[in-house]
Amino acid sequence: MQDMNLTFPEGFLWGGATAANQIEGAYNEDGKGLSTADMVCYQSKEERGDRPVTYEVTGAQIEEILNKKNSGVFPKRFGIDFYHRYKEDIALFAEMGFKVFRLSIAWSRIFPNGDEKEPNEAGLAFYDKVFNELEKYNILPLVTLSHYEMPLNLSLKYGGWENRKVIDMFVHYAETVFKRYKDKVKYWITFNEINAALTSPYTGAGILADRVDNVQQSSFQALHHQFVASALTVKSIRKIIPDAKIGCMLSAVTIYPETCNPKDSLDSLKKEQKSNHFYTDVQVRGYYPNYMKRFFLENNIEIKKEPKDDSILKEYTMDFISLSYYMSLVTSTKNDAKKVSGNLFGGVKNPYLEQSEWGWQIDPIALRIILNRLYDRYQVPLFIVENGLGAYDKIEEDGSIHDPYRIDYLRKHIEQMKEAIKDGVELIGYTSWGPIDLISASTSEMSKRYGFIYVDQDNYGNGSLERYRKESFHWYKKVIESNGEDLT
Ligand code: BG6
Repeated sequence: MQDMNLTFPEGFLWGGATAANQIEGAYNEDGKGLSTADMVCYQSKEERGDRPVTYEVTGAQIEEILNKKNSGVFPKRFGIDFYHRYKEDIALFAEMGFKVFRLSIAWSRIFPNGDEKEPNEAGLAFYDKVFNELEKYNILPLVTLSHYEMPLNLSLKYGGWENRKVIDMFVHYAETVFKRYKDKVKYWITFNEINAALTSPYTGAGILADRVDNVQQSSFQALHHQFVASALTVKSIRKIIPDAKIGCMLSAVTIYPETCNPKDSLDSLKKEQKSNHFYTDVQVRGYYPNYMKRFFLENNIEIKKEPKDDSILKEYTMDFISLSYYMSLVTSTKNDAKKVSGNLFGGVKNPYLEQSEWGWQIDPIALRIILNRLYDRYQVPLFIVENGLGAYDKIEEDGSIHDPYRIDYLRKHIEQMKEAIKDGVELIGYTSWGPIDLISASTSEMSKRYGFIYVDQDNYGNGSLERYRKESFHWYKKVIESNGEDLT
């Protein structure tokens, strides 16, 4: 067979991925408004006790924070100071040979309260500088419009994405940045891990759990508004940047049945539908799947739609599917199964897999499985825009950092990507998560490090902020140079 892809295609987009609230810092500089992410406080393991890690915040907690009754540390406010150090950081990405850099725009830098008519020029100017710097090195920006944050005002005053008015404000924000950066940015993503609206309603949709009657109902309504907003954004970009590519983004998980008991298999199918396919069915196929309509009926969930919503969803579908992939899960119909944690979902312990130090099950083969499943179902290009290992790193006295565990994790995942390409999957790029150490989304800690570049800062924001190349830095450089052939 001549027409088979046996390896990474020419022009494959290698790079790294970040989010504004996890790197930028400067949370109140140059006119930026408060964002929902600025309210998430760091809690050490001792402070947290047995409670699960959460990045969810209630209205009552926000009141306390705004009234200065909370003396906590808020790492997403200081990030890793990318706002002032972007030149140095981008130069390091260029040294690794990045073809693409995924970043998000902080909506509250452009519209500090979210509901203004006119944008904040200083906020727009900051991203101009970042894009210019990337261009200097021929690194393409891949921009997420909404990555786990929104202007805090929209959450407090409007109830977040549950309120339909937020659609127009988002589209106005999206059109503002499309017009401004139309010559600089050709790859866009609408919502990071759109599944988060359901699993983490505050983080994903700005919903304050203590201010709504039924969180699940509000979250599904919010998600509907995000679907419509995303589709309207596609409509706008087709006019403003006709040669742009715009994708949806999914936290992708493979969910195995624990046994061959048909009940477990059915349970895994249902969970995969609800955790993965629902979102892409709406955003790529363009309509609500019947299994979800059935779920709504059986669970008394009512989605309020406007008459034109269905045709908007149908007409403005996404160009590609982007996904994050960290782990697989197992589901069991038994009640006593031992549980493990994950980024958005938890599951049952898989005896065949090792776990990261944060209990995330490491499973490169499941990446191949999910790529195949997504491609079989939708036949649109796939882009892995997050993958990586959060680990504790140790910096030696001479400034070196040996992280063979990270290299091993990434190597095994890249090998499986290659297998998926051989299976026929159209994979266009790979941006590993956190190419430079950053603030963790789920735990707001600094010590959960993903980077090829070490940042000297602790969980409380102490440190020189100096950047150091880890062993994996040199390894990833070789991977990119050889277009994924040299993984040694
Ligand atoms: C994804 C998010 O869920 O996982 C990122 O899109 C996040 O923002 C990443 O950082 C890793 O999760 P964590 O909790 O280890 O930072």
